[in-house]
Amino acid sequence: MRSPKNFFAPLAVGAPAPLREVPATASRVIHFLDPSNEKMTAKVPAMVGTVDVLLGNLEDGVKADRKIAAREGLVRLGQSVDFGPTQLWTRLNALDSPWFLDDVTTLVPAIGATLGVVMVPKVEGAEDIHYVDRLLAQLEARAGLTRPILVHAILETARGVANVEEICTASPRMQGLSLGPADLAASRRMKTTRVGGGHPGYVVRADPTPGDPDAPRASVQQDLWHYTVARMVDACAAAGIYPYYGPFGDIGDSVGCEDQFRAAFLLGCVGAWSLHPSQIAIAKRVFSPSAQDVAHARRVVAAMGDGTGAVMLDGRMEDDASLKQCRVLLDLAERLATLDPELAEAYSAEAGS
Ligand code: GLV
Ligand code: MG
Repeated sequence: MRSPKNFFAPLAVGAPAPLREVPATASRVIHFLDPSNEKMTAKVPAMVGTVDVLLGNLEDGVKADRKIAAREGLVRLGQSVDFGPTQLWTRLNALDSPWFLDDVTTLVPAIGATLGVVMVPKVEGAEDIHYVDRLLAQLEARAGLTRPILVHAILETARGVANVEEICTASPRMQGLSLGPADLAASRRMKTTRVGGGHPGYVVRADPTPGDPDAPRASVQQDLWHYTVARMVDACAAAGIYPYYGPFGDIGDSVGCEDQFRAAFLLGCVGAWSLHPSQIAIAKRVFSPSAQDVAHARRVVAAMGDGTGAVMLDGRMEDDASLKQCRVLLDLAERLATLDPELAEAYSAEAGS
């Protein structure tokens, strides 16, 4: 454990100073693309501004014989595209893979100034973050970077979940965590075969009717990911970093995707991955507070005056604590509105109605 006195000292001579706060940029939708796929990369310039984050994926989903093409494709993207308001992130290969070292030693000097965040998959504990932290500092110093590259860990091993708090606080580089439900299911030996989402077998059933054991009994599907998402949200909030739902693999099930994303949003997540263009609009809609919620929050703020005491609004009691929730929502809405003109308009139209 590093002493609080030198926690923010650069880990290599000449490396940029670590950030004290994670930049509060929009990251409602992290759109995944395979940089080895030329049809996909050709579309990137047109996607700038339509997603918050474009992520060049180097890990799972990219075939072993395309790993180097993906890395090189990402370098070409980083060097040739003007990303404007959209952030460029990558998902590196796993630390124990044959590709990780070349991924970082290639990307940092080539596109380190453009790369905002690197996702590190299958993080097991603080030791993984410490290794990446020092390596990035050395490479940043050598490349003469002036801004540190941030680290986002994927929570996708049972040990990672057990160590989630220490992962979040392992370095000032930590930007956030994503749930990795597919790898996590395998690591935990869950008996599912899906990438995120629910399962029809994971239900709670009503008791039998007394005297009529064969009568139909209602059952409701439960959320396989509730525990992990909630745990991840607490660990991230306590560390001042951001939690994200990860992938939802059933691309055709837009309703299920929206429900999973919304449950994560309501629990405290700030964004999710999109694996297909059809999921971009879902993530943007879900992870932006609705105009109605923003209007309600503004009414509570106005009604609460100096922010203390209690008032009745539409038959409901509002007090200092509900005001705090409204402020969380308004802070997010105001930040997103500065980046998204459509949202700014929706929020001001609702205020005027
Ligand atoms: C994502 O990487 C997952 O394993 O779900
Ligand atoms: Mg995974």
